[in-house]
Amino acid sequence: MVRKTIASIVGARPQFIKSAPVSRALSAHFREVLIHTGQHYDYGMSDIFFEEMQIRPPDFNLGVGGGSHGEQTGKMLIELEKVFADVKPDCVLVYGDTNSTLAGALTAAKNGILLAHVEAGLRSYNRAMPEEVNRVVTDHVSNFLFCPTDAAVQNLAREGIVDGVHRVGDVMYDALFHNLLLARARSQILARLELQKGEYALATVHRAANADNPARMKSILDAFSALSLKVVFPVHPRTRKMIQEWGLSANGNVLFIEPQGYFDILMLQENANCILTDSGGMQKEAYLLGVRCITLTSGGDRMGGDRGSGLEQAGRG
Ligand code: UD1
Repeated sequence: MVRKTIASIVGARPQFIKSAPVSRALSAHFREVLIHTGQHYDYGMSDIFFEEMQIRPPDFNLGVGGGSHGEQTGKMLIELEKVFADVKPDCVLVYGDTNSTLAGALTAAKNGILLAHVEAGLRSYNRAMPEEVNRVVTDHVSNFLFCPTDAAVQNLAREGIVDGVHRVGDVMYDALFHNLLLARARSQILARLELQKGEYALATVHRAANADNPARMKSILDAFSALSLKVVFPVHPRTRKMIQEWGLSANGNVLFIEPQGYFDILMLQENANCILTDSGGMQKEAYLLGVRCITLTSGGDRMGGDRGSGLEQAGRG
């Protein structure tokens, strides 16, 4: 029997993590062509995830990283259209809410190819977030909408989307519990950084609302400096660039480190006293690991994807 071809599109860090369990499941039934847009391209933001989770190398890497949102998305559209003409997928599969998601969705829709969206139906109801626009547009052109929670299904219904909607559970849950034992066995990060369980806070900041706003970034760094706990802060390249550009700093309480791979970040999370983050994925992982989490966003920016917090979202997942 000839297998149908699924073209899976990944590009940003969390999408590599999510694609691993889905690719494993797909491999029994479909031919999968893996397309990396190149949105994340540094070793620590991309290759390390492929190595740790033993994801096979992408069949195509479009090399579209950096640039403004429009430029990045536009270049991806141009390159994806060429790949689709070559591969002729029966269905395109996209994850989450990044510019790679949007580009994959639009290219599929414009070329009359079926589109499947994993993590459909999540909403923050804040259209100032680039991710919210990506989510809404992607859902409205999708044929198959794979929702992590009942709340996500309801969000779609409120927008009139009821056909092709499936509540399938949360792929990040699958990824987390598949990798946790491996991470415990392999990660040396606590010893390397001389950290003790429960004696530090883990922080990440990368959302545009924080990383592109000097006043907000300064107040976040000031707060980290003033905490009674040591703060371990793996710094996303965009955040590092902005901190340097604005000449911001923190005191010796804050340990700035490079972005970490999945195993090391899982261990840093599991052993933290608390997690301080604007990442929707890390909010959810904190909940699943039972670690306290403080979300570094203002009300409308919260990324759980429902009205309410990411924790409520994860709780239903
Ligand atoms: C993107 C997603 C965000 C997701 C996050 C996961 C969009 C709109 N945003 O944000 O939803 O939560 O990924 O991490 O798609 N850069 C590097 N090296 C890299 C990757 C990026 O230097 O490996 C630089 C880029 O050149 C750019 C900046 O970091 O200047 C931002 O990268 P970009 O991919 O545009 O958005 P993220 O902030 O990573």
